[in-house]
Amino acid sequence: MRLYRKEGDTLKVLCLPDEEVEKGDYLLVEEPERGRALLAQVIDVQFANIPGVLEELLRDSMVSCLDCGQDVDPLDLSSHLAYLEDARLLICKIRGGLLNGRLTDHMHWLPSRSRSRIRRLSTAELLELSGVGRELPIAIGEAMDGSKVQIDAKALDGSLTIITGKKGTGKSHLAKLLVLGLVRYGATVVILDLNGEYTRLGYSCDGRPNEFYERVLVLKPGENFRTTLAKAGLSVMMNIMIHALSLPGTSAREFKRIWYHLSRHGSLTLEGLENAIRSWKCNENVRDALFSRCYALSSSGFFTDDPADALDLEDALLAIEGQGGAIVINLRDLSAVDRRVVVEYVLGKLTELLSKWILRAVFLFAEEAHLYLRETYWEDVVTRMRHLGIFTTFITNQPDTIRDNIYRQADNIFLFNFTNQRDLEMVARASRVDAETVKAIARELPPGHCLIIGSAARDLPIVVRVRRLDVDAMGRTRYFFEEAPATLKLEQEIG
Ligand SMILES: Nc1ncnc2c1ncn2[C@@H]1O[C@H](COP(=O)(O)OP(=O)(O)O)[C@@H](O)[C@H]1O
Ligand SMILES: [Mg+2]
Repeated sequence: MRLYRKEGDTLKVLCLPDEEVEKGDYLLVEEPERGRALLAQVIDVQFANIPGVLEELLRDSMVSCLDCGQDVDPLDLSSHLAYLEDARLLICKIRGGLLNGRLTDHMHWLPSRSRSRIRRLSTAELLELSGVGRELPIAIGEAMDGSKVQIDAKALDGSLTIITGKKGTGKSHLAKLLVLGLVRYGATVVILDLNGEYTRLGYSCDGRPNEFYERVLVLKPGENFRTTLAKAGLSVMMNIMIHALSLPGTSAREFKRIWYHLSRHGSLTLEGLENAIRSWKCNENVRDALFSRCYALSSSGFFTDDPADALDLEDALLAIEGQGGAIVINLRDLSAVDRRVVVEYVLGKLTELLSKWILRAVFLFAEEAHLYLRETYWEDVVTRMRHLGIFTTFITNQPDTIRDNIYRQADNIFLFNFTNQRDLEMVARASRVDAETVKAIARELPPGHCLIIGSAARDLPIVVRVRRLDVDAMGRTRYFFEEAPATLKLEQEIG
């Protein structure tokens, strides 16, 4: 391989047909006598436009059309020309520099065309250099050249992570893998499970309890997950009233007064609330507004007046704090309003426990969060909640439902296949990687493969084939015909 051009942080490298290089591979451009090197990633492979090759191709096709007997080629030029015709131009992005074998940020120098040597770096060498996944490894899968890839659980700590890609490419699968990895290291994980896909995390593929069985608690609102008004507390209830049930300001103030009144009389129950609203001296519109919210609370089935029926989220969290465990909030079959009520409650409780230092930190996994997360939480997630110790992973197949600033602030992105240009544009806003890389690589990722971007890969993006997981996969798309479509054949392919 020979260096051809350098334009900003893009290198163009000429590569002969017998040198094996693929998109996503890393190259080392070395200047051995000065002990320095550049680390560059191939993001596109094109034909080398060698002057004369076009003419030769045309001439060749004309001659083959004429079919006029035998070619005379005494100097055997045609094989050389054929060789040149297949020469490739590698478009590479400079990702870092090396000085005496160590990774540095010093990468803004021009390597010599004549003296530099270029070779392909295996993923194992790359990971060794960058030290990815050394401290608390979570095995993710294999790189394209077969090397094992593991990331550091610490890369998710204190971080904002996005898992995105088309439907059926393996996002939830990867999320489960990360959840179990974190749980293994003793982390507290809360999952907002929109489709009930995580409810079988504690079971292996054959349906038997696995090693995580004791550490996974599945909560179904209205069934084994209910609370009383008193346990929820005023501030959580106010948030539910205002944000989940859109109670206007004046009525919210009245609600607060009623709450104080009820708590003074020790009757903080749904029944007490309903009676108080009925006899409360207030405007009729306010009364109607309060009644309708009160009705929404009781019809959600999430609130109960019997403390014995209520589950204390605090106790459940404290039971797994330190030893590691996952709480799956199963939001499946809940109406949009009930989903919002439950999520408001869970997030309210989490922030309360974290700000009082009752909990240390929580990893939150949220599938398709735009369906239940209120507007202001998006800002909160990157600022206040992150500060308090809620480290969020958003999982979505609609990248435009996640705000711009979330992409810019994301520490890690696990990018699966996208073919749609608009989706790619959205993800390309992430500041941890250049837009060209996202667009060039993501479009060609097969199902079950992802590009790891950001601190989990120490800013050296890498393509990984995600490994299998011995967990009962719930929530896979249901099909009428037995034969599953291409994406589901993954398991056999990958296996
Ligand atoms: N790396 C993988 N190895 C084996 N099976 C996988 C892998 N990734 C995904 N699958 C399977 O493919 C199907 C779709 O994956 P899923 O994670 O639900 O996709 P998504 O969340 O992107 O829609 C599931 O049945 C899942 O178990
Ligand atoms: Mg999914």
